[in-house]
Amino acid sequence: MLHLQIKNLIQVGRRHGFTERAFGNSCTRKQALVEKIFKRKTQPGYAFLTLPDAEANLKKIKQYVKEQEKNKWANIVVLGIGGSALGAIAVRDALKSEFAKGPKLYILDNIDPAYTTELLSNIHLAKTLFVVISKSGTTTEPMIQYGLVKEMLQKKFPANYQKHLVFVTDPKGGLLRKIAKEEKITAFDIPPKIGGRFSVLTNVGLLPCALAGIDIGGLLKGAREMREAIKRSKGMHNPALALAVAQFMLDKKKKKAVTVLMPYCNYLFRVGDWYRQLLAESIGKSRRAGPTPINALGTTDQHSQLQLWNDGPNNKFIIFMRVLRHATNPKVGKILPEEIGFLNGKKFGEVMDAAYLGTSQALTKHQRPNVTIEVPQVDARSLGALFMLFEFQVALLGLLYKVNAFNQPGVEHSKQITKKILKGDEK
Ligand code: PA5
Repeated sequence: MLHLQIKNLIQVGRRHGFTERAFGNSCTRKQALVEKIFKRKTQPGYAFLTLPDAEANLKKIKQYVKEQEKNKWANIVVLGIGGSALGAIAVRDALKSEFAKGPKLYILDNIDPAYTTELLSNIHLAKTLFVVISKSGTTTEPMIQYGLVKEMLQKKFPANYQKHLVFVTDPKGGLLRKIAKEEKITAFDIPPKIGGRFSVLTNVGLLPCALAGIDIGGLLKGAREMREAIKRSKGMHNPALALAVAQFMLDKKKKKAVTVLMPYCNYLFRVGDWYRQLLAESIGKSRRAGPTPINALGTTDQHSQLQLWNDGPNNKFIIFMRVLRHATNPKVGKILPEEIGFLNGKKFGEVMDAAYLGTSQALTKHQRPNVTIEVPQVDARSLGALFMLFEFQVALLGLLYKVNAFNQPGVEHSKQITKKILKGDEK
């Protein structure tokens, strides 16, 4: 199970952090918000809490994946953007290495003309299944991608192009649902009460990952375990509550308006992209609400951003992710020269962990508040737990900042203007 280590919030001192007592009291005062969220679990937005129990849907996905085995797909290509892509990217990068066997999972979450051409001309179309994901079914990016792909498929396989397509969309509304019905394309549902950035544990994230051979049952199990841990633990021992209260109070009382997420693990790096959207789109709703998320990777960013964090403006809250057991852990032989002889015989994981400790301790000495999420190992269970932890934390932040964490008017606005420009109504 994941563990949140908060000692450096105390060790930075009161000016930029908290005393243990004050922090504990603040968490206890906000405990009622945890219960409030559990009570709202069937309401729009908060329904993400019910996803780990969707057994019937899990069976449906597994059944579909089994049926698809006969097609021997070499490539699964997702067409989707934002909440319809970032979850699957995070899962893929954590759990399916680029060197792993089985179908490749590509996620085309942009409409860069050259990259789109390069990808589509380098995959074997006959061996490719396209998963078109859009809750609204009207988002410009996936729809233009779909148009291009459909044209290619119809040209090449006029009799059965539908075989190469599966949709994930709203159960009733939207254009994709309409097309699916008219053209007899298989379509999976996105529960109407779940918003894009909270949808990784729906068919949005689960279907493409299952098609790529990833253990989606493990994701749901981890999420379920974390939800139960959040339900039963109190005050500062509740990881979602402690994380939310720390972030909120550091922003409001200590002027830490920037949140850095820094895993010491390549496989967890894209969880940062997923979290960046979750935090930015959910909480960035008014001039007084919206911590700015920044992504980093340890140890790489020690040699890039750390200087700024240690000595620059003291306006950041840093969340580390530390992996306790790496899948493999090579050791350097005793071949390095005397000047760096202390590295001889060391395991890579040991050196990476020393770098994490060095960085977190240096930041603490510079009075830069930081916490650490300890991840037992990178597997489906831990990843599911991370998704639930962060989603719950952001739901709590919505209540703390008193904003609607589940809408995105700013995104909708830009979508509308873009459409007007493309229709020629606006320049
Ligand atoms: O979190 C959100 O709601 C957004 O980021 C959406 O996921 C994104 O805009 C894509 O929308 P749709 O799935 O309707 O195509």
